[in-house]
Amino acid sequence: MNMQGKIAIVTGAASGIGRATALRLAAEGARVACVDLAVERAEETAKAITIAGGEAFALAIDVRDMAVCERMVAEVVARWRGLTTLVNSAGVRPEGRDATPPPAEWQRVLDVNLDGTYYASRAALPKLKESGAGSITNLASIYGLVGGSLSPAYAASKGAVANLTRQMALQWAPAVRVNCVCPGVIETPMTEEPRRDPTWRNWQLERHPLGRFGKPEEVAAAILWLASDDASFVTGVALPVDGGYTAA
Ligand SMILES: NC(=O)c1ccc[n+]([C@@H]2O[C@H](COP(=O)([O-])OP(=O)(O)OC[C@H]3O[C@@H](n4cnc5c(N)ncnc54)[C@H](O)[C@@H]3O)[C@@H](O)[C@H]2O)c1
Repeated sequence: MNMQGKIAIVTGAASGIGRATALRLAAEGARVACVDLAVERAEETAKAITIAGGEAFALAIDVRDMAVCERMVAEVVARWRGLTTLVNSAGVRPEGRDATPPPAEWQRVLDVNLDGTYYASRAALPKLKESGAGSITNLASIYGLVGGSLSPAYAASKGAVANLTRQMALQWAPAVRVNCVCPGVIETPMTEEPRRDPTWRNWQLERHPLGRFGKPEEVAAAILWLASDDASFVTGVALPVDGGYTAA
């Protein structure tokens, strides 16, 4: 139980990696605010936590709105009197694999993946600082480290999240540690559609030396470590959780 006493916000907690992370942090003793646009499914995550004996509640939050992110932090602090941990998992994948996405699609991806990560982090910062040992863990991607098969908008958003992570780690130290994970292809609703395409699937499997795609729980395990005091001397890292994809 190495998250005992922690108070966490997990964005994107309705689905995939965010959901698995909320469940894992709670299983390790954290109180978890399950935040998502899709509030009904976020409520399901919170309910699963409480049924398992943990403490959680859900909030309908759009991370693209700075004022809404501030409200999110205020609601958590009003309920639990503090905030120690933020996991930014809310994200969108690009529509298709267009090499030249039009401006609206470009902006849609950047708005959630980059702006949303910054806004939630900025809103959380004062309370994380107050806690004395705050941590933020962001979701970048292998496509924040290398180019790939998705879209320029996604790669740009994730590359920006990886470097935003380093910058926040430098400027928000020592009170807050900031890290990111860079997952390979993970079996979540986000990748369901491309994984059905045999050409894409095989191309991707060949690039994952472990010969399979990852499970959301495997990313959650890495996030748990980075968010916990076990990683107390770790900040500013971009940790691949990618079955070896970026080793090539
Ligand atoms: N699945 C993968 O292969 C993979 C790989 C690398 C990185 N990632 C990243 O991990 C994160 C989680 O991905 P996932 O696979 O769990 O995706 P997912 O689609 O299963 O879950 C994403 C969640 O984010 C929520 N969301 C979207 N826009 C939002 C907004 N504006 N405000 C609040 N919530 C919003 C969605 O409602 C959804 O519940 C994303 O940032 C994604 O880019 C995923």
